[in-house]
This record gives sequence, C-alpha cells and structure tokens, in this order.
Amino acid sequence: MSGRLQGKVAIITGGSRGTGAAIARLFVAEGARVAIADLREEQGRALAAELGGDALFHRCDVASRDDWAALVAAVREHLGEPAVLVNNAALLDIAPIDEVTEESLERLFRVNQLGPILGIQAVLPSMRALGYGSIVNMGSTDGVLAQDMGLIAYASTKFALRGITRTAAMELGRDAIRVNCLVPDSGNIEMSAPFLPEGMDHDELMRQHVEQILKPPPWASGFHRYEEIARMTLFLASDESSGCTGGDFPVDGGYTAGRRFRP
Ligand SMILES: NC(=O)c1ccc[n+]([C@@H]2O[C@H](COP(=O)([O-])OP(=O)(O)OC[C@H]3O[C@@H](n4cnc5c(N)ncnc54)[C@H](O)[C@@H]3O)[C@@H](O)[C@H]2O)c1
Repeated sequence: MSGRLQGKVAIITGGSRGTGAAIARLFVAEGARVAIADLREEQGRALAAELGGDALFHRCDVASRDDWAALVAAVREHLGEPAVLVNNAALLDIAPIDEVTEESLERLFRVNQLGPILGIQAVLPSMRALGYGSIVNMGSTDGVLAQDMGLIAYASTKFALRGITRTAAMELGRDAIRVNCLVPDSGNIEMSAPFLPEGMDHDELMRQHVEQILKPPPWASGFHRYEEIARMTLFLASDESSGCTGGDFPVDGGYTAGRRFRP
C-alpha cells in the first residue's frame, strides 16, 4: 500500500529526532505534507531538507500557546490546513517521590500534558473547517503500568494523556475529529540515556523482556520498534482507522497485556 496520507497535512511535534523523525519519514513516504515542530532546530531543519518540498521545520515550544499559533499559521500558509496532529514531543526526568522537585513536576506537566492540550486547541479551527481530523497522542507504557524507578513526574503526565485522549474524543467526535493514544514501550534511547546507570543497555534489557512474551516473527528484526510505532501512528492518522477514537493502542510486544510467571 502507498499514498495512505495522500493530500493530507500533518503536524508532528518532537519530530526532529527519534520516534517523531521516523513518523515524519513514513508520513512523507505515504503522501503527506509534514510540519516538524520541535526545539531542536539543526536536526529538524536537516530532516526537513532530507524530506524535500513536502516537509518543513518550524521551531515550536509545545508549552507555549503563542508558538502553537505561529506554527499553525505557518503550516496553513506553506502546506495547507492540518488534518493530522501527532502530539509526540515529551521530556523525561527521573527522581523518587521524596526527591522530585516542583520544578521537575511542572516542567514535565507543561511539555507532556499541557502541550498536547494546547496543540489540540490550536488545530481545531483547521480540522473543523476541513470537516474531519485525526489526533494521535504519544503515550507510553509508563502511562499504563507503574515501574519502581522514579517516574512520578513522567508517569503522571502519561497517565493524564490517556484521560486527555478520551475526554477530547468525547468532545470532538461530533466534528468528525478522532483522538487516540498510542502506547509504546520504547523510543529513542537518547531520551532515557542521561538517567540510566552507566553501562546499562536499556534496549537489550527491554528486548530480552518483551521477547519472552512475543517472539518476533522470522521477517521482523525484533526490538527496536521505531518503525512499528510509526506504522501504528500512520494507521491512526489515516482514514483506515475511521472507526477508532478514544482508544489506547499499544505497540509494546505484549508488555502491558499481563504478567508472565513462567521462568
Ligand atoms: N524513549 C523511550 O524509551 C520512550 C518510551 C515510550 C514512549 N516514549 C514517548 O515517545 C515520544 C517520542 O520520544 P522519543 O523516544 O523519540 O525521544 P526524543 O527525546 O528523541 O524525542 C522527543 C522530542 O521532543 C522534543 N521536545 C522536547 N521538549 C519540547 C518542547 N517543549 N517543544 C517541542 N519539542 C520538544 C525534543 O527536542 C525531541 O526531539 C515521547 O512522547 C515519549 O514520551 C518514549
């Protein structure tokens, strides 16, 4: 299949690197015009240049309403009315409950939780004018299952994102605007690396863990999941998922399905 987003304009926040960059590449390959919205200018501009005339980079702090207004104005001028929004930008911080600071809690709240709400508000006029829209919020398995590793600031925003998804789906469904939450177990190691103990190979540990649940089929490379996350984002963004709204869509190799007790 190809052209699954033909003619559609999509905004991808946090698209300069990692998961967001993989999504931008797949969306352009599937016919979308894509706006990469991020604070990382150099990487974002390089990616937009690589993707050609169907992509642009726009510097945007997702926690700023003014930045959202400027982003949407630029997208409308250069690409057209956005029909797709991928709220993918996020920050991580790790500290146990008795050490976490208000500054950390507020910083992650502003980017991971307020940012997606401001984004939804910013694209609503365009989606209403088009008569449809699809919003994909990038959640995390940390918004479904708790882990004992100092994730109070991050996990609280990712749990909240599933509530934002459902509430927005209820309010916007009458405008044919769908809102879904993707739940990956992995992403860019550069996001978590600053917080991991030295020498810890997080990807390898995750791979070993999830491959006990789901053996990768012979044609798949197994863990790492950028492409799998991008493909689920494509499905949710495209008209193929016209029956889906308000849902959680895990791409986690069964990680949140249950506990596995067999040795
Ligand atoms: N890395 C993981 O292990 C993992 C696991 C599950 C879910 N996720 C989720 O996947 C999504 C993508 O993360 P990733 O793994 O690609 O990490 P990443 O750090 O490569 O990507 C996050 C992007 O968001 C951008 N960003 C941060 N603050 C911003 C702001 N205020 N305004 C605009 N852009 C901002 C960063 O510059 C970066 O490019 C996030 O929502 C993350 O929570 C990541």
